[in-house]
Amino acid sequence: MKLNFTETVLRDANQSLVATRMPESDFENILDTINQAGYYSIECWGGATFDSCLRFLDEDPWDRLRKIKKRVTNSKLQMLLRGQNILGYRHYPDEVVRLFVKHSIMNGIDIMRIFDALNDLRNIEVAVDETLKCGAHAQGAICYTLSPIHSLENYVKLARDMESMGVHSICIKDMAGIMSPQEAFDLVTALKQNVNLPIVVHTHSTTGLGPMTLLKAVEAGADCIDTAISSFSGGTSQPATESLNYAFKQMGYDTGLREDVLRQINDFFKNVRSKYVETGLLDPLVLSTETDALIYQIPGGMLSNLFSQLRQQNALDRLDEVLAETPLVRKEMGYPPLVTPMSQMVGVQAVNNVLSGERYKNISKEVKAYLRGEYGQAPGEIDPDLFAMVMGDEQPITGRYAETLPSEFDQAKAKLAGIAENDEDVLSYLAFPQIAERFFRNRAEKRTNRVNYSIRRI
Ligand code: CO
Repeated sequence: MKLNFTETVLRDANQSLVATRMPESDFENILDTINQAGYYSIECWGGATFDSCLRFLDEDPWDRLRKIKKRVTNSKLQMLLRGQNILGYRHYPDEVVRLFVKHSIMNGIDIMRIFDALNDLRNIEVAVDETLKCGAHAQGAICYTLSPIHSLENYVKLARDMESMGVHSICIKDMAGIMSPQEAFDLVTALKQNVNLPIVVHTHSTTGLGPMTLLKAVEAGADCIDTAISSFSGGTSQPATESLNYAFKQMGYDTGLREDVLRQINDFFKNVRSKYVETGLLDPLVLSTETDALIYQIPGGMLSNLFSQLRQQNALDRLDEVLAETPLVRKEMGYPPLVTPMSQMVGVQAVNNVLSGERYKNISKEVKAYLRGEYGQAPGEIDPDLFAMVMGDEQPITGRYAETLPSEFDQAKAKLAGIAENDEDVLSYLAFPQIAERFFRNRAEKRTNRVNYSIRRI
């Protein structure tokens, strides 16, 4: 039996443990070794890495991708794409989504893991279609959440619909680490019975369930699991690559991984980890087990946001009320999965409802846009009273919101004449306008300084 491993140290582990602040200089020297380990794929791009490169690390994300591609040729390179939002939080016109996917693949991505926060498949269909057109591997990801309407049948329907869209594999994306071993077993079993595609399982160790959840998922027939090299595993990151490899090999699985190489990779990242602990970039607390998410059925990240919001407003004594209000708001909003940006919207609304003394007295513009249908279709029914209160006579959007958006690329390209050096730069700008412009300015300045320096030397 074959079991594939996806290594997440460069993307999700990096994002979950050190807020995606790992610069390329901290991992470039281990890429040749990673290439020898036998991983099925390396998740190395997308998610928050793109934003972080431009905003904090003064790195060109496209350049990072090309550099990884040059050194890692034996494993597939994988990225995480937020469907119609590409890597940001607003909706982009189809044209931008297609160009972003195309250029990601041209620069080295082999597997596109594509998801939508609401599991509204209309928000991933264009990205999937473009991935297929470019001849790359399209992986449809289902956001895993718990609610009365998120039943096995509901997940099976999503997976079937993704299969008809032509995806090559399906990922169960448990972003909060709340999927239990039994739930994973039941879900993978149901998907395996109903779709004829490889199933990938992605979870986090946050609540301590991670390794058990992966074990049961593989027992039920999962074909690929996401893990992180042990020095960057555990806590809010993924379960450890070496431990899972050890366990599954003993159970007779062919993982394709080389233990001696994994050890070298881990020794390397141990040093990186020590450095991050010393500088304070890595807070050891994120490596601990946090079971509150299982009690409140709220992801850990969302819980800590609720705490800090209440602390800021000097209202920590209202926590119990907010924790009771949150599931109510979520129900009235049609049970969105508690993933960014929905977790923030639901959390802020619950806090407002409690602190203002009147439910829905203050409603954020994001929640209004959500109710209008700009984010896509809610998984469940939106409470009619809430809808009427906020929207009045206005009709919600029923079609694909992206289709109403004007194209943006040519305009941005014209605006960046003399600044953008290629179409990738234009895409960086479209994803994060201000920080991309700042990055371009810094880049130009550095070049001028370098030229001046060499002239002086002559
Ligand atoms: Co994740």
